[in-house]
Amino acid sequence: MILQDKFRPAVVVVGASRGIGRAIAKVAAGERSAVVLVARSPEGLAAAATDVREAGGEAFTLELDLFAGDASERLENFLYTNGLICDVLVNSAGYGLRGPATALPIDDQLGIIDVNIRALSDLTLRFLPGMVRRGRGGVLNLGSIAGFTSGPNMALYYASKNFVRSFSEALHHELRRTGVIVTCVAPGPVSTEFLERSGADRAALFKILPKLDAEYVAKRAWRGFRSGRRLVVPGISAKLAALVIAFLPSAVLLPLIGRLQRRSKDPCLCGSGKKYVECCGARQIQPRHDPRQTTH
Ligand SMILES: NC(=O)c1ccc[n+]([C@@H]2O[C@H](COP(=O)([O-])OP(=O)(O)OC[C@H]3O[C@@H](n4cnc5c(N)ncnc54)[C@H](OP(=O)(O)O)[C@@H]3O)[C@@H](O)[C@H]2O)c1
Repeated sequence: MILQDKFRPAVVVVGASRGIGRAIAKVAAGERSAVVLVARSPEGLAAAATDVREAGGEAFTLELDLFAGDASERLENFLYTNGLICDVLVNSAGYGLRGPATALPIDDQLGIIDVNIRALSDLTLRFLPGMVRRGRGGVLNLGSIAGFTSGPNMALYYASKNFVRSFSEALHHELRRTGVIVTCVAPGPVSTEFLERSGADRAALFKILPKLDAEYVAKRAWRGFRSGRRLVVPGISAKLAALVIAFLPSAVLLPLIGRLQRRSKDPCLCGSGKKYVECCGARQIQPRHDPRQTTH
């Protein structure tokens, strides 16, 4: 194990200002670690830093917007300036968007790729080589049970979580025998602001499925990561859902998910990590023109 003397190992949690990321930061702090908390909201970061200190860890905060092209470079510089190295990376930043892909704002949908896929990959690929050189640490990526199927009416979100699972599982295999672990945690619905912000809370699917606490998910995720697991699916309901997805043919599964996630009466659908109403206001999403319905 090689650790340069002047640098201390840190757990870096991206998406730490609330929800699952904040809960994981608290669990990691229980190991008396230095924890670097990364997100946009200064208030959320300050609250997470208090959690970390109360749990026995040392907290560092960095306000960072993952939409910025140089985000991962800025994080790397922050660590260097504070005499830290990224020993464990937790990628928890992410957002979703419910609604028909042809009706949702394109920029908000492409933003899902920027945060859930591009930023996650950039950070993972930036910090993994150092971990491999040192022969320790790893990456804990937040996937979802959405990563086991396609999801009509939440198409890009499901696709992004399929990416996270596939990417993480492949890295887990590539890095076997290096001492570095890559784990994907794939929860079902969790009681966080994610549900309201994405509009998922208004869909029947998310009303049917039981919701887990972020603290429970964080403990399971961390324990799975520390014991070298490739994939962690926390809770019985999520495990059952993953099983159902594996056995149902797409011809049955896709109409079912599409129906359970279809647009509710509320026409306002938005994402990009903004509050639902702040983002869309009272804008109505108009149905696309359908030439088959044109009368001559
Ligand atoms: N909640 C669920 O039901 C559920 C289920 C399965 C998987 N997941 C996944 O779990 C992860 C965490 O979700 P959550 O439930 O904890 O959601 P959340 O409560 O909305 O938290 C999302 C976190 O991501 C950060 N973030 C979002 N956009 C960002 C950006 N552009 N730059 C920097 N940080 C950004 C937010 O911080 P700021 O807004 O302060 O920047 C916040 O800390 C996500 O990847 C989500 O897809 C959630």
